[in-house]
Amino acid sequence: MKYALIGCGRVSGSHIKAAKLNNLEITALCDINPEKAVRLARENNLENVSIFSDYKEMLDVVKPHLVAIATWSGCHGEIAEYCALNGFNFIVEKPMAMSIEEADRVIKAVEKTGVKACACHQNRFNIAVQELKKAIDNGRFGKLSHGNVNIRWCRREDYYSQDVWRGKWATDGGALMNQCIHGIDLLRWVMGDEIESVYGSVRNRQHPYIEAEDIGVAVVNFKSGAVATIEGTVNTIEDFEETLSVFGENGMVRLGGMNASTIDVWQFKDEEAADSDRRSVEEIAPNLYGNGHTSLYRDVVASIENDRTPYVDVYAGKRALELVLSIYKSCKEGREVKFPIDSFATTEMIEK
Ligand SMILES: NC(=O)c1ccc[n+]([C@@H]2O[C@H](COP(=O)([O-])OP(=O)(O)OC[C@H]3O[C@@H](n4cnc5c(N)ncnc54)[C@H](O)[C@@H]3O)[C@@H](O)[C@H]2O)c1
Repeated sequence: MKYALIGCGRVSGSHIKAAKLNNLEITALCDINPEKAVRLARENNLENVSIFSDYKEMLDVVKPHLVAIATWSGCHGEIAEYCALNGFNFIVEKPMAMSIEEADRVIKAVEKTGVKACACHQNRFNIAVQELKKAIDNGRFGKLSHGNVNIRWCRREDYYSQDVWRGKWATDGGALMNQCIHGIDLLRWVMGDEIESVYGSVRNRQHPYIEAEDIGVAVVNFKSGAVATIEGTVNTIEDFEETLSVFGENGMVRLGGMNASTIDVWQFKDEEAADSDRRSVEEIAPNLYGNGHTSLYRDVVASIENDRTPYVDVYAGKRALELVLSIYKSCKEGREVKFPIDSFATTEMIEK
C-alpha cells in the first residue's frame, strides 16, 4: 500500500515508525521546507522516497493509497478536504480543523467520495483506555455519575519559539486545542459523546509571548445526566500528568501516567477474575505521543482493505474539536453553550 506524509516536523517520526511497522510502502514525503523532508528520509533510511514541497503535486504524481497530514494545525482542514475531494484516504493529525465550518467541509467531502478518513486521536488505542471503554460499554459502572480529565503538562518559551504557528489562534490555539485535545476526546468518548451544554473559562497566565490560553477549565453536562470537569494546562513546572477518572454507581476507575496510559484505580462492586491484571496495566511509551500511532495506522490499513470506516473517524475528530471550541465560545460569551455548535472558529478568540 503506497503511503505519503505531508509535514515532516516533530511528530513525523511517530508517523514514519507506524507506517514502517504496518509494512506500508513509504513513497513520498512533503514539506514546504523540503530540507525537513530530506532529513526525515535520512534519519529513517528511506532511500527511495521522493521529496516534494507542494502536496498537491505530490498527490498528483505519486497517487498514494494513504496520506498522513502532520502539518501545522491551521492547514489540516484545507489539506484533508483536498485529499477527500480527490479520492485519497487520509489520517489527519489533531485537531482535524480550526473551526466547525472547516470540519463540516472535510466531513462533506469524505461523505461525497467515500474515502477512508481518520482523525489522529491515537490514545483511544491505549490498553488502559480500551479497558475503560469496554467496562463502560459492558455496563459495569451502572449509571454514570461523573467524569474528570486533568491534563497538566509543561511547555516553556523554547517550545513556542521553535515555530511561528505555535500558540496563535489562527494556526494552533492554546493548551486545550493542542496539548489537551487528546484527553478531552477521551473524556467525551467514554462518557457517551452526547453533550447538553458546556461552561468554560480559559486564561493566559504564564505565557505572554503566545496569543492563546495556557490554562482552561470547563464543566460538561452530558445528555445522560452525567457531569464532568476538564482542567487542561501547560503551566506546571514539569510534565505532571494526564489523568482520566470515571465514577458510576457500581465502579470507579482512574487512568493516569502522562497520557492516560496506566490504570491507577480499578474498583468495581462485581469484581472479575481479570480485574487484578487490569490494575497492573502500565504502558511504557517513548514520548508523550504514546504508542497509539502504530495501532491507529493498523486500523486505518484494515479499514481500507476491508472497506469499512476507521475506528477513529472524522466525526470523532469533529466531536473533540467541538468540545474545545465550546469552551472557547463559552469563555468569550461569558455563558453556558448549548450543543451542538453550528459555528465557531478559533480566530473568533482574537481580541479586536
Ligand atoms: N497526535 C499527537 O500526539 C501529536 C503530537 C504532536 C503534534 N501533533 C500535531 O501534529 C501537527 C504537527 O506538529 P509538529 O509538532 O510536528 O509541528 P512541526 O512544526 O514540527 O511540523 C510541521 C511541519 O509541517 C510543515 N508544513 C506546514 N504547512 C505545510 C504545507 N502546507 N505543506 C507541507 N508541509 C507543511 C512545516 O514546514 C513543518 O515542518 C500539529 O497539528 C500538532 O497538533 C500531534
